[in-house]
Order: sequence, then structure tokens, then C-alpha cells
Amino acid sequence: MAFSFNFFIISFLSFLLTHGILKLEASHHVYPNLQTLDESTTPASANQPYRTGFHFQPPKNWMNDPNGPLIYKGIYHLFYQYNPQDVVWGHIVWAHSTSTDLVNWIPHDPAIYPSQQSDMNGTWSGSTTILPGGKPAILYTGIDPKNRQVQNLAVPKNLSDPYLRVWVKTPKNPLMAPNSLNQINSSSFRDPTTAWLGPDGHWRVIIGSKIDRQGKAILFKSKDFVNWVQSPQPLHSANDNGMWECPDFFPVSTKSSYGLDTSALGSDLKHVLKVSLDDTKHEYYTIGTYDLAKDIYVPDQGSLNSDSGLRYDYGKFYASKTFFDTAQNRRILWGWINESSSVSADVKKGWSGVQAVPRKIWLDRSGKQLVQWPVQEIEKLRANQVTFPSKLLKGGSVLQVSGVTASQADVDISFGITEFEKAEVIDPKWTNPQELCNQKGASVKGNLGPFGLLVLSSKGLKEYTAVFFRIFKANDKYVVLMCSDQSRSSLDKSNDLTTYGAFVDVDPVHQKLSLRSLIDHSIVESFGGGGKACITARVYPTLAIDDGAYLYAFNNGTEPVMMEKLDAWSMKKARIN
Ligand SMILES: *[C@@H]1O[C@H](CO)[C@@H](O)[C@H](O)[C@H]1NC(C)=O
Ligand SMILES: *[C@@H]1O[C@H](CO)[C@@H](O)[C@H](O)[C@H]1NC(C)=O
Ligand SMILES: *[C@@H]1O[C@H](CO)[C@@H](O)[C@H](O)[C@H]1NC(C)=O
Ligand SMILES: *[C@@H]1O[C@H](CO)[C@@H](O)[C@H](O)[C@H]1NC(C)=O
Ligand SMILES: *[C@@H]1O[C@H](CO)[C@@H](O)[C@H](O)[C@H]1NC(C)=O
Repeated sequence: MAFSFNFFIISFLSFLLTHGILKLEASHHVYPNLQTLDESTTPASANQPYRTGFHFQPPKNWMNDPNGPLIYKGIYHLFYQYNPQDVVWGHIVWAHSTSTDLVNWIPHDPAIYPSQQSDMNGTWSGSTTILPGGKPAILYTGIDPKNRQVQNLAVPKNLSDPYLRVWVKTPKNPLMAPNSLNQINSSSFRDPTTAWLGPDGHWRVIIGSKIDRQGKAILFKSKDFVNWVQSPQPLHSANDNGMWECPDFFPVSTKSSYGLDTSALGSDLKHVLKVSLDDTKHEYYTIGTYDLAKDIYVPDQGSLNSDSGLRYDYGKFYASKTFFDTAQNRRILWGWINESSSVSADVKKGWSGVQAVPRKIWLDRSGKQLVQWPVQEIEKLRANQVTFPSKLLKGGSVLQVSGVTASQADVDISFGITEFEKAEVIDPKWTNPQELCNQKGASVKGNLGPFGLLVLSSKGLKEYTAVFFRIFKANDKYVVLMCSDQSRSSLDKSNDLTTYGAFVDVDPVHQKLSLRSLIDHSIVESFGGGGKACITARVYPTLAIDDGAYLYAFNNGTEPVMMEKLDAWSMKKARIN
């Protein structure tokens, strides 16, 4: 094994040298009309109540998918799909920022932009793989002159530069392309994952695709990372899914919350396959087994291959991607939070899109789902802690949490339920949590719930976003529902005010019910049950802005619930670009 590994490194290096991959592209500026690096000069509007304090965003213009996150020589890199010219999607390049703490970021010039035949019509999403010797390599989707989606390779020009500012593309691009033999749909072939290395010394990567309504993760293999051969069968596919965008495939430990390298194999791990459904703009994942002999992924029995199954986030969260952080042995998840406002509102404010706070992600002890939690570094922005001791919240109570800047805050609350007698019986037809939250919003009184937080609230509650729980009785257990109700989040009804919901797999008889919300002007990112259910919402209050924003704990059920503890902090502003 060690021998073949060293042999691989040597052959890869000699390949790079003899095949001239590390030569700088001569075609650096051959497509001046497509050079999209000139930033538009229009300043973003001065009136900016919705810009974030600690969520990643560029100073202006359009951002979507996070791309190729990695850590290199102690520096975290985030690339992202960015339009340097406009507030709407188009002219996409890989913008680039770096950080030493995942909280404060400095900008660099775009790392990848159209510069060769294989990407002259677009440089779309992709991932980074760390090759032997610690060398990063990016595989990304290029759009060629025939508007076909093809896969390309770029490597850093100067490995001594920890900021990896300049990337060079191999003249051999594209490395994977649709053709008449492979029957790959050239309009549906994109978003290569981080590659993993099998014990046979071959790299593997999957690319999102579809045939008719079947979503597919097409598998390619390579000995040298340059010459890729399509595997006879996809790693996985699922009927009635439509296009699989941004697949992500990685191992998780069954023994601890530590992350694993993407190539890790062994008995103490499971694999996760996540896909982003172009049709519904939802992501879902399954947990299962990677069958190395057949090179296929087999989801565990009972897994749902659709967005009514498990989701990282049950709100606005898409095109996500993980990477293995070798500095702290954790896997970190990035995801794009789209706007929920109209294009004309985006044009007015001069920007569109934010990234969710990076989250540590690991397998729950049950083995049945993943758990996520904001990276601990974000806690260094906490200030002015306010703590409430335990307090009984009677039905109908609204408790103000003062002393924190409610428009930019971190709040962690937990509830203990002792009286379950009055829990409403769940109707077996209520299988869709979002639908249930929609029917039973914060203003619909129940018995056990709604109780939780009213965030980004105006004085007098003309506007508020309610994040809350309800507890129902099923045959042999209690069912916990978590909702994020945006119906009153803004007096401006032109925004998307959709309510989101999720079931939380906790046992309220034996466990406290916790809820943490990161509130950031127009984002409410909520973690229920210690990160077992996450819901992210975009909201655009008109009154609950800056000093006009208030925070409350509430119980709008008929039964009292015990607020065991509440901690809230103002969040300092991060340096973001
Ligand atoms: C793709 O490139 C061709 C040739 O440069 C150009 O005519 C066409 O408009 C481009 N299409 C898109 C969608 O950018
Ligand atoms: C590579 O990067 C290092 C560190 O930033 C720098 O000192 C060196 O000059 C760079 N080399 C080239 C050829 O640009
Ligand atoms: C190929 O993808 C395009 C774009 O989504 C779609 O319109 C077309 O129907 C697809 N063809 C097949 C055979 O799936
Ligand atoms: C982003 O939001 C816009 C406007 O609400 C919507 O049309 C679009 O489908 C959304 N895309 C995703 C990926 O959520
Ligand atoms: C609590 O319920 C009452 C009665 O349904 C409703 O009028 C009120 O708006 C609710 N409170 C909140 C915070 O939703």
C-alpha cells in the first residue's frame, strides 16, 4: 500500500512535469469579451438593513454555490459562484476569500474564470481534492463553446503561496465530457465532488446528472487525476428526482463526532450521499454503505430517496458542500442561502445571496441521521451575555429578552416538559412537517406548544419570525415538531413568506428540548434538538430593523412549559471581505 502510494506520487509529479500541466495557460486573455473580472462600478445602495453582520457575503452583486472549500497551510479557503457584473445570476466566476478562523475573511481576485475553450461559456461549481503531498486540485464544470457541460482541472500555480491566489488549468481540459458513446446529457452533467482514492490506487469522482426523471451520480475513475474513465454504472441513481446538482459523498464515523478524510475506509464508518434537487430547490441525503467491490453506494434500508426524506436544512439552504478540516479533525458544511425577496428588491439593495454559517457535521449516535452545529469559532463574536434562570412560561406568555442587539444575536434556549397529559394526538396523515407548520403557525393555539422564540420582532409584535416547537402524542411516543413561521416576518408581503417545518428526533420525556437561533438582520438560522433539525429563513422586516428589533421567548399553548435556561448574546461584526 505504502509502496503504491509513493509510486503514485512520483508518477503524478512526473506526469505534471512531462505533460506541462503546471505551465501557465498561454490563453490568459484571449477572450476579452468574456473577461468578467471588471467589477461593476455601481455602488450597492446605502440603505442596507438586510446586510449581515457575521454571515459570509461579498460586498455586492450575486453569489450562489459555495465551491471547493479547503484548508491549506492553516488557511481556510472559500470559493463561490459569483457574478462580478450584476445582482442577478450570470457571468459566473469562482470568487475567492480566505480566513484563519472561518469567521473573518479577506478577499482575493477570482481564482477561476473563463480562459480556455473548455470553459469559455462558464466556470460553474466544483470541488477541491487534496492530492498526495498535500497539493490541492480543483475539478469544476466548464461550459464549452457548444454550451456543453464538461469537467475541468485547475491546480495552484505556486504551492508556496498559502493564499493559493493563482490557479492554472491543464491544456488537456476538458477531462470528462459528454459524447455520442457515453450517452451523458450535455445539459445535465455538472458539479464534480471531492475525489476519493480507492485501495486500488484509482481516484473516483461523481458528477451530478439525470436521464429523463432519474437523478444520477455518474462515477469516473482515474489513475493520474487527468485521464478519467467512466464507470459502467453510476455510484447511485434514483427515480423521479430530476437533475442531481451538487452531489456530495463522504464517510462519517460511527464512533465519534470527528470528521474523516474523504478517502477513509474501514468498518467504523458509514457513507453519506447528498444531492441538491434542481426541480424543488431542496437538498436531501441518505446514510448508507459504499460497496467498494461494485463501486456503488447502497442507502440503508428505509432511506427515502427524495426531499421528503432527511435534509440538512428544512428552510432556505442549497448547493451545499462539505470538506474535511485536517486542522481540527472535523467535517465542515457550507451552504448557500438564497434570497426570498423579489429581483427588483435585490436590484435595489445591490446584492443577492449569503452563505450559512459553516457547520460541523457528524453522524448522530442513533446512526440514523446527521447532526450539525455552528463551528465553535463563531462563538468568539459573542458579547453582552444575558442569562435567564429557569422560569415557568404559562400559556400565553411573552417574555422579553433585553440587553442584546436583537438584530444580530445568538440565542440558546431549552425547555423541559413534565406534563404530557394534554399533548394533542397526532393524526397519522400528518406526515409532512412543513404542511403541518403551515396549518399550525404561531398564532394557532395548541396544548403543548407553540413555544419557542420570537425573533426580529417589532415592538407590539406587528412583525416577528416565530421559531417554535409543538409536541404531539403518537401511539407509543411523543412527536416533536419544529417550525419557522415567516408569515408575519415582514409587512412587505411581496417577499416569500413560506413557513418551514421539520420533525425533531428527540424524546421530550427524557431529554431537554433545545433551540439555538443565529439572528443576523435578514437571516434566522435555527438548530433544534442540539442540531438534529436545522431551519434557515430569510426575512425582510420593515420595522424590526437594527434598534427596532426585539427578542422574546414565548409560549402560545394552553399548558405551561418550563424554560430551563436561556442564554443570549449580541454578536460582534465579523470582518467579511
Ligand atoms: C457561448 O459561446 C458562443 C461562442 O462564443 C456564444 O455565441 C454564445 O452566446 C455563448 N452562449 C452563452 C449562453 O453564453
Ligand atoms: C510563491 O509564493 C511565495 C509565498 O507567497 C513567494 O514568496 C514567491 O515569490 C512565489 N513564487 C512565485 C514564482 O511567484
Ligand atoms: C437533458 O437535459 C436537459 C436540461 O435539463 C433537458 O431539457 C432534457 O430533457 C434532458 N434530456 C434527457 C434525455 O434527459
Ligand atoms: C432563489 O430564490 C428565487 C426567488 O425567491 C427563486 O425563484 C429561486 O428558485 C430560488 N433558488 C433556489 C436555489 O432556492
Ligand atoms: C397567540 O395566539 C393568539 C390566539 O390564536 C394569537 O392571536 C396571537 O397572535 C398568538 N401569538 C403569537 C406570538 O403568534
